[in-house]
Amino acid sequence: MHMKSLTALTLAAPASALIRFGCSQLVVERLDPLVTPGVNPSPHLHQIIGGNAFNVTMNAEDGDIGEMATCTTCQFSEDFSNYWTAVLFFKARNGTYHRVPQVPNVGFEGQKGGMTVYYMQDGLANYEQTSKVTAFKTGFRMLIGDASYRTKEEANRFRQITYTCLQDLGTRYPETMDFPKEPCPAGIMANVRFPTCWDGKNLDSPDHMSHMSYPELGTFENGGPCPESHPVRVPQLMYEVIWDTSKFNDKELWPEDGSQPLVWSMDDTSGFGSHGDYMFGWKGDSLQRAMDSPCYVNCPMLATQSIEEMNKCSVPNVVDEVVDGWLESLPGFSGGEHA
Ligand SMILES: *[C@@H]1O[C@H](CO)[C@@H](O)[C@H](O)[C@H]1NC(C)=O
Ligand SMILES: *[C@@H]1O[C@H](CO)[C@@H](O)[C@H](O)[C@H]1NC(C)=O
Repeated sequence: MHMKSLTALTLAAPASALIRFGCSQLVVERLDPLVTPGVNPSPHLHQIIGGNAFNVTMNAEDGDIGEMATCTTCQFSEDFSNYWTAVLFFKARNGTYHRVPQVPNVGFEGQKGGMTVYYMQDGLANYEQTSKVTAFKTGFRMLIGDASYRTKEEANRFRQITYTCLQDLGTRYPETMDFPKEPCPAGIMANVRFPTCWDGKNLDSPDHMSHMSYPELGTFENGGPCPESHPVRVPQLMYEVIWDTSKFNDKELWPEDGSQPLVWSMDDTSGFGSHGDYMFGWKGDSLQRAMDSPCYVNCPMLATQSIEEMNKCSVPNVVDEVVDGWLESLPGFSGGEHA
């Protein structure tokens, strides 16, 4: 009888996982093995997190990065995926650039740079997380956002690539599609949410996006159905990257016309060019196992490591270029033109 009630309990909560975890910085350099594989250096600077199989070229045929990597900067130590975004710079009145430092989310103190990563079955506010999702497959990769976009009209193509102007580290709304126009006391959080419907066949596509789709009706948050062309519901992957812009908040440091002084590494002062890249690399079926187990944020069926261990994993820089200190131009750009 005891057994029977346990079974009933399990059936009542067949799947209810949301995982949220920190990953420290693996490397900051001009590489992009998804969009420009084999190109060293790539056009603009990225911050990369995750497993140490990260490299200039990462073809799915070359092997499973979940098996090739030997360490990861992520708290869940079976996650050898790689995740990356552009890097934020401050442009001084004298025309030089400085990389904006980072600060970890509350609860991840000690993490070196990096991001907070989420995999969700339902919207963040839904503690039940009951919708079934299929985990990504070995070799899967995708991109969201377009580094060349500079207008709202262009960026409207994407639904959920936003900024939060942090009054304190707990601020979560409102979100804007462009850079905040006023100083943000606790920094700026860049939010990148990926589409949640997969075509079920292709691990990648020429634009790294068309094998994925947003729900056909409604949104991921309100349980909108996937289109017939992309019927497989996958977890919503989301990145939060916190840039500590607070030391650049003095308006005396801002351009004399009052515009904001921040610029993404692809020379974007609008904010509409924000983008995120993903290469799946969870070991074996660990992500599917986690998604199929009832847990919220802390998922005990996954192996974890300490922040100290996360910070230890790194890869050698393969691009020989200075990205710290005051720079005369953004890495990859010179005299305002693309190198
Ligand atoms: C990166 O690729 C080079 C060859 O292109 C290889 O020698 C090196 O071992 C790779 N590094 C990692 C960490 O896989
Ligand atoms: C440019 O401005 C920054 C910030 O005010 C300052 O730290 C840096 O030394 C200046 N560089 C030059 C070459 O004047």
